[in-house]
Amino acid sequence: MRHLLISDIHSNVEALDACMERAEAVGFDSVLCCGDIVGYGPDPNEAVARVRALGPRSVRGNHDRVASGQGAADDFNLPAKTAVYWTRDALSHEAAAYLRELPAGPRGLGGDAQLVHGAVTGEDDYILSAADAAESFRTTGARLTFFGHTHHACVLSSGPGGAVRLETPRGADGRWVAGLDPSVRYLINPGSVGQPRDHDARAAFAIWDTEASRIEFHRAAYAIETTQSKMRAAGLPPPLIERLRYGR
Ligand SMILES: [Fe+2]
Repeated sequence: MRHLLISDIHSNVEALDACMERAEAVGFDSVLCCGDIVGYGPDPNEAVARVRALGPRSVRGNHDRVASGQGAADDFNLPAKTAVYWTRDALSHEAAAYLRELPAGPRGLGGDAQLVHGAVTGEDDYILSAADAAESFRTTGARLTFFGHTHHACVLSSGPGGAVRLETPRGADGRWVAGLDPSVRYLINPGSVGQPRDHDARAAFAIWDTEASRIEFHRAAYAIETTQSKMRAAGLPPPLIERLRYGR
């Protein structure tokens, strides 16, 4: 079984379409989504419609939660807050209802795998350091946890004595494969489709191949200028527009 892993699409349909074109070329059987379908970008309704049509197993992200009217954006920085309230106004009733129905993680996938948005400890928590990862490993017995929220593609593995090993995808062709040891526990972030922050502006996704026991990381170039023009036309905050070009 090949599961397509997407996360942090953030209303960027140019990036999502580029990922789907490449994902279809390499093949997949099901779709898993770590949340943040909306927020930041200019096309929230279109992003929800596209993701929904894929029939994914998904958790909600913090932007999905606030944009769909479930709580305030008190802990968001100013550009993120501006964009999430813009998104709340722009969402159709149907799209908002879909987001409201997404479960908060962890969401079990059967077997020993699960989806979360931020961390096992909470959807707003970030896994940015070995200490953050160790806390998530301590909080779960799952062997594989897929997460998003940081917008950094990575593989964190739990070693002897609670040591955590971090690997980040690299490769000129935008593709990197990580073998999964059945005796090791992992936290895996496929990267962000719509707003990468790991210094690679290309859209990110991954494929979890259960038979080959491996994760394939991919990047897809997309028309960043098109997304930026739409954001300008929508009056979204300039720092959010600029950062797409730099991937950070
Ligand atoms: Fe996000």
